[in-house]
Parts: sequence; C-alpha cells; structure tokens
Amino acid sequence: MEKLIDLRVVDGGDALARAAAEEVLRTAEAAVREHGRYTIALSGGSTPKALYRLLASADGPFRARMPWERTHFFWGDERHVPPDHADSNYRMARETMLDSVPVPAANIHRVPAEEPAEAAAAAYERELRELFQPVEGELPRFDFNLMGLGPDAHTASLFPGTSVIHETERWVAAPWVEAHRTYRITFTPPVLNAAARILFLVSGGDKAAAVRAVIEGPRDVDRYPGQVVKPARGTLLWLLDREAASLLSDTRS
Ligand code: 6PG
Repeated sequence: MEKLIDLRVVDGGDALARAAAEEVLRTAEAAVREHGRYTIALSGGSTPKALYRLLASADGPFRARMPWERTHFFWGDERHVPPDHADSNYRMARETMLDSVPVPAANIHRVPAEEPAEAAAAAYERELRELFQPVEGELPRFDFNLMGLGPDAHTASLFPGTSVIHETERWVAAPWVEAHRTYRITFTPPVLNAAARILFLVSGGDKAAAVRAVIEGPRDVDRYPGQVVKPARGTLLWLLDREAASLLSDTRS
C-alpha cells in the first residue's frame, strides 16, 4: 500500500514560512532530546528565504527555541560558484539567517563550490562521512531535509534528463546541467531519501504544474525528478501555498 502523502495547504507568505518554521522547531527539539544534536540539509533558491529570516528573527517566536549550538547545517545542493557569489545558496542562507544566530562556525558545513565541481563533490562527501561516522553500508541520516521544487519539477540539483537522478552509490555528485550551462553539486537520491523528515516547501502558481506532475502524474522520474524523493525510513510532508496547490485534484487544507 503506497504510503499516503502528507500534504498541507496554507495561505502564502508568512503563513507558509511559519508552518515550515514550526516543522523545523518540532524536529529540532525532538532530535536534540533523542540524540543531542540536529542535522539539517538546507535548500537554496528563493522560497526558503522567508523561512530562514523567520527562524533567525529576534522578535519572532522561533529564534529562542532553536538549538543553534547543537545544529549542523548542510546544503542539499549548491551552485558551482564561490561562497560570496550572488547565486550561492550558502551566501543566501548566511545573509538571511546564519550571520545573525549563535551557530558555531564548525557547524556550518558549506560545499567548497569554488573548487572544481568533482573535487567539491568528493570533499563534501568526506565531510558527510566525518560528521555522521556511518558504519559500512549505512547512509547519513539527516534529521531534516528541506527541499524545494522548480517549475520543471527539479529538486535539489536533480534536473530532468540527468543521470544523477538514478545514482545509487555516491552520496554527493557534480552533474553538468545543460539547461543552466553549469555544473551543480548535489546530494544524490540515497542521501536525500535517508532523512528522518523531508519537507517539500513550495510556493507560487508557477510551481502548480510541477506539483501536480510530481504528486499525481504518471511515474517518470526523468521527466519529474521530484518523484525520486521517497523517504526510505522517514516521513515526507508537502507544505504548499494555495497557488502551488491549485492544480491538485485533492487538497486538504
Ligand atoms: C537551488 C535549489 C533548488 C530550488 C528550486 C526551487 O539550488 O536552486 O536548491 O532545488 O529548491 O529551484 O527554487 P525557488 O524556491 O527559488 O523557486
């Protein structure tokens, strides 16, 4: 029996960021209680900015509750640019959140995306092994994996038609993305799916067709890479605003 998709539709803007922040805090408090730290893979682009700002906001309800000193930040994917580049997902998270919260520098695990792409991917995989210290054959299990969705149904840097969608061995890869004429560095499906909690955070009508294709469309991971995200032993929540959910046949608000 296919595991039911957990899907929530909220009003956009602040309500979406607030619902996502509640998810982060709930999982962070549980992870610290259970194993003394919280590991989270951040997504990039623009949708998560409101969430990151809200988590860090000094007069918001989340900053004081966040176990910043026990949280380890990784990125599910990164553009192949230096850390101070306008396209850098690391820079975006630094400017909207990390620069203004008490997270130890050693807990911020950025992709060395200024290096040649393959070298950056290999280095990042080493960083995962160093922190998670997995036994042979085990995968790094993030407490939380935040994911976005592109209008072309890509997620992380798994773009339509790229072979990384089918990667089963490597944890981090450096695919060439023809659509953007650039390399990306990205977690592969095994790592993305090993997380205890995956949250797809999607807003805007421009994503509605991709949301419908991924959730209700025929299985075709090459065309709709978001479909490859299926938690192996965790749970998945889709958090959508009304516009992003507008083409779904059955939405629960
Ligand atoms: C990136 C992201 C990517 C993002 C989607 C949605 O590096 O761009 O990690 O997977 O989540 O492209 O981006 P928006 O939220 O900006 O629409």
